[in-house]
Amino acid sequence: MSNSGRSVLDLKSFSKNQIVELFKQAKACEESSRREVKKFQSTVALIFFEPSTRTRISFETACVRAGYYPILFDCGQGTSLIKGESEADTILNIAAMEPSGLIIRASEHLDLQDLSKKISMPMISAGWGISGHPTQALLDAYTVWLERAELANERVLFVGDIAHSRVAASNFELWKTLGAQVAICGPEVFLPQPDERIQQFTELNEALQWASIVVSLRVQLERHHEKCLFAKEDYLKYFTITEERLKNLSSQALILHPGPVNLGVDLSQEAIKDSRIRILKQVTHGVYLREALVEQVFGECHT
Ligand code: CP
Repeated sequence: MSNSGRSVLDLKSFSKNQIVELFKQAKACEESSRREVKKFQSTVALIFFEPSTRTRISFETACVRAGYYPILFDCGQGTSLIKGESEADTILNIAAMEPSGLIIRASEHLDLQDLSKKISMPMISAGWGISGHPTQALLDAYTVWLERAELANERVLFVGDIAHSRVAASNFELWKTLGAQVAICGPEVFLPQPDERIQQFTELNEALQWASIVVSLRVQLERHHEKCLFAKEDYLKYFTITEERLKNLSSQALILHPGPVNLGVDLSQEAIKDSRIRILKQVTHGVYLREALVEQVFGECHT
């Protein structure tokens, strides 16, 4: 396989065995007492054309732990983008500096599949338009896997702005491969095209009674091309996860959110304190999941 053939732009090619092997490697990274900075063996370029807190700093930390010095291109400040250079040419020029790999966050306007064929090193998506956010989905499932024996037994419910969520898109791919049941609940304008493999709930309390895992998703205002798709007061009335509604959820269930949380909209101030919430645990586990993935994808392919 060519180096660029190892790229991770979606999760379609991952088998259940590969996912579980990645989780085991991430757990080994997590259990390792190694906390010192490894001697850098090479560089990895982090190219972020969109803002990020968790993913960018998580990947930077993961690269350092794995022994790759992270070279950062952060939203184009002070770069030749302001002179009119395209995002595609920016990527090709950074690739010409021969890092071991590229980690890219970009909008759907950039064709990462096409670009991955033009460069010699692998690429990992750090969130690409609304098409996917594969490492977020992997770290979500890894967080569950650390507490559960068999992921195929889970009933995973997505609540919120599902149609505009790249996190949901990658999670659907992943949980189907893992054999779990998947369901969605949200205002009609936030729901994707019907899919016979995805159950739809119109009533949140009923959905919470069904679920063993709840993934709350942020209302993606920046991806709504019309002014307001759904009135905030209606969202609060029917879809905000509140302490009262959480009484319908099993005591053994887990509640995830990829962040950033719209506090008071996605989850109420009281609900976010619930003992089943794993939001900051996701962030912690994400570093080790990404460390394992960086080792797998960029290892033994130094230019
Ligand atoms: N979950 C996530 O992608 O967060 P950031 O946008 O802060 O990276």
